[in-house]
Amino acid sequence: MIRQKDRIAKGAEAIIYRGSFLQTPIILKHRLPKIYRLPQIDKTIRLQRLRAEARIMVLAWKIGAHVPVLLGIDFANRTLLMEEIQGELLFFIMNTAPLTKMKSIFKDIGQEVGLLHKNDITHGDLTVFNVVINKENKPWLIDFGLGQVSVEREKKADDLLTFYSTLKAISPDFQDLFDLFKHGYFGMYKKGRKTFEHMKKIQSRARYIAREDRLE
Ligand SMILES: Nc1ncnc2c1ncn2[C@@H]1O[C@H](COP(=O)(O)OP(=O)(O)OP(=O)(O)O)[C@@H](O)[C@H]1O
Ligand SMILES: [Mg+2]
Repeated sequence: MIRQKDRIAKGAEAIIYRGSFLQTPIILKHRLPKIYRLPQIDKTIRLQRLRAEARIMVLAWKIGAHVPVLLGIDFANRTLLMEEIQGELLFFIMNTAPLTKMKSIFKDIGQEVGLLHKNDITHGDLTVFNVVINKENKPWLIDFGLGQVSVEREKKADDLLTFYSTLKAISPDFQDLFDLFKHGYFGMYKKGRKTFEHMKKIQSRARYIAREDRLE
């Protein structure tokens, strides 16, 4: 028996409800219609995203990554049912937890992302709002709506850059924390050093473009 309870979040693409399934806490992620799209096209796009997200979650779960277990798909309502990871978003933990606690968390996040990349899975939106830290202080990745299966170094480097950029925006310790993340990432994924080199290339490309813009 599935029960839908309170609404906990509303993002650009989805509304998230908390609920229960056989007494287990679950999350229902309902993809919203976009009014600016033609209804028939909108239905198709939401269905594709729903399928893609479900597929990536299952693939990630199969390789043993810390991701919520997918419990079901309600195609008619464009809704995913998944395990609720009980804990707090990384963003909020970073505001309250001491740096020493953050250090081991960041190394673990690096390992998780390394595991995905080693298996050619990219997250697509690796921000501090898409990592939940559970009660044992272990990181769980959520929100695979933009995830892909890809061998492309550029896509993997994009994950690193997104993570680095959001860290830089919110923490004065971003460099130390990112170094720990890298440590975990390289430990899990030997080719990860190449991904990191590629991330630096993208960064300098962006800096170059910004400079060109200023000259105009
Ligand atoms: N499995 C889960 N366990 C715990 N909390 C979750 C889970 N899934 C989602 N949440 C909560 O709901 C919020 C929004 O979920 P999610 O990131 O999947 O959606 P979104 O950002 O709106 O989606 P999209 O990026 O596709 O628009 C998360 O930041 C988190 O607080
Ligand atoms: Mg999100």
